[in-house]
Amino acid sequence: MSEFQTVARVGEIPAGEGRAFRIKDRIVAVFFTDGRYTAIDDVCPHMGASLASGYVENGAVNCPWHDWSFSVCNGTWMNNPKGKICQEVFEVRVEGDEIQVRT
Ligand code: FES
Repeated sequence: MSEFQTVARVGEIPAGEGRAFRIKDRIVAVFFTDGRYTAIDDVCPHMGASLASGYVENGAVNCPWHDWSFSVCNGTWMNNPKGKICQEVFEVRVEGDEIQVRT
């Protein structure tokens, strides 16, 4: 199992927004919504846009290119919850003022 990596400090991700971070060979989108941090795979499975730059609303991020929507908590494809597409989810913790993600 991999270890947690520090990606940012508390306060660097504004409420209701996401930021993308490279962790080893991955790009992870970390969101700060409803007072907690969550992380999913940043790469949209449709055509590869960065989900971290999408608009976040009601616990979901809308892809900036074609508006597919994914839960920032569990990666579910909200446009088709019964579909097979689901973004990978990563564990997030806050240690002191450091936001850490385990890929
Ligand atoms: S690239 Fe994300 S919906 Fe098309």
